[in-house]
Amino acid sequence: MVGILQDKDRIFTNLYGFHDWRLEGARARGVWNGVAEMTGISPEWVCDQIKASGLRGRGGAGFATGLKWTFMPKQESERPHYLVVNADESEPGTCKDREILRFDPHRLIEGCLVASYAIRAHDCFIYIRGEYVREREHLEAALTEAREARLIGAGNIHGWDCDIRVTHGGGAYICGDEMALLESLEGKKGQPRLKPPFPAGSGVYGCPTTVNNVESIAVAPEILRRGAEWFASFGRPKNTGTKLMSASGHVNRPCVVEEVMSIPMRQLIDEHFGGVRGGWGNLKAVIPGGSSVRLIPAEEAEVALMDFDDLAARKSGLGTAAMIVMDKDCDIVAAIARLSYFYKHESCGQCTPCREGTGWMWRIMERMVTGEADPKEIDMLLDVASQVEGHTICGLGDAAAWPIQGLFRHFRPEIEARIANYRARRANTPGASLIAAE
Ligand SMILES: Cc1cc2nc3c(=O)[nH]c(=O)nc-3n(C[C@H](O)[C@H](O)[C@H](O)COP(=O)(O)O)c2cc1C
Ligand code: SF4
Repeated sequence: MVGILQDKDRIFTNLYGFHDWRLEGARARGVWNGVAEMTGISPEWVCDQIKASGLRGRGGAGFATGLKWTFMPKQESERPHYLVVNADESEPGTCKDREILRFDPHRLIEGCLVASYAIRAHDCFIYIRGEYVREREHLEAALTEAREARLIGAGNIHGWDCDIRVTHGGGAYICGDEMALLESLEGKKGQPRLKPPFPAGSGVYGCPTTVNNVESIAVAPEILRRGAEWFASFGRPKNTGTKLMSASGHVNRPCVVEEVMSIPMRQLIDEHFGGVRGGWGNLKAVIPGGSSVRLIPAEEAEVALMDFDDLAARKSGLGTAAMIVMDKDCDIVAAIARLSYFYKHESCGQCTPCREGTGWMWRIMERMVTGEADPKEIDMLLDVASQVEGHTICGLGDAAAWPIQGLFRHFRPEIEARIANYRARRANTPGASLIAAE
């Protein structure tokens, strides 16, 4: 394996399923090692270690995980605390949590126990994407093994009672938003709740709740085992640790890898994903993290680092670190229009800017693809996008606006030329003057 991360520093040592995913295999890879010590000091100690490691949430927004855990009440009361693991993974292009769920489920279960201890929860829910049927089978089999070995559950050998249950999502992208997920978990329609109150104050069943991504939870025990400094030694300040990254689209070897944060994007693509189809010179643009961030063109991809702050400085984002790579043969306008259709389809319809705006943006984008849009519609489209951005209950509105903004930021002349070409072709069509006069 090339890249920067050495094999000895990998957390996910069964990422490709080459080894046994069951309890015996997991134990041979060090999972469940030293957990009694982790749950034997204090919840504050666990939170401090995770804070010191610099771990930022791996679900897309990059919020500091240790800090989030400290928002939970410091005392247990009659209101139970809950840990909710977000395994919805519906972000386009993203398939990293899936590899943990099916090939390393014990690492996630171990993380659930340790994180539950840190936030003083005795109940944990794992909300898994509806389409992940085989993944759920592995996860449930691993949970049964863990219960039988008394690693989790009431009276377990680690001294912190914790029951872990799996809930199967119904297949809506919006249920990945933590507030919609909580609604769905309670058996209601998956529509995001307004914040505040935040989950730590009022989450599942109105009780204190922490929601974290699968990867954020799965790496926590290894951080405690090897030490916060070890994790913090990778990447740049405020962008530390190792991270699952992937590429889909026009690369020669699409896959998921674990690498150090802040690895240069070009090195990641060239060394792990077999390079861009047709060579680096054939690269057009990259959407760095799933589809819900702005794309960056090839010139920027050449020098970008795969971390939160570098990509934010480029007006994009790390998101889920699941790159969508597009080469020069790609109709990039059609690609972004397809994403617009996705967001329109997945909008829960609760807030007007998103419900109306996503459909409006998609319809204009369709005209941009053929070139039949009016040139004035470019500014109108960008105006609609800015009216949606930041004016909605959940992040889906932003997610719908950003790919379009990224496209026009970097490729506006290309779209203007497409419209001009279409008009020129129409002008040469017999009868065009009659149509224009209508
Ligand atoms: C529309 C939408 C979809 C989301 N989908 C996911 C998802 O599939 N998995 C996930 O972990 N986070 C998803 N998130 C982010 C979650 O709301 C939340 O920030 C995350 O689960 C927190 O975990 P972390 O702090 O460990 O990253 C989504 C957010 C939005 C707005
Ligand atoms: S932004 Fe869209 S998906 Fe989110 S709550 Fe509003 S309508 Fe629903």
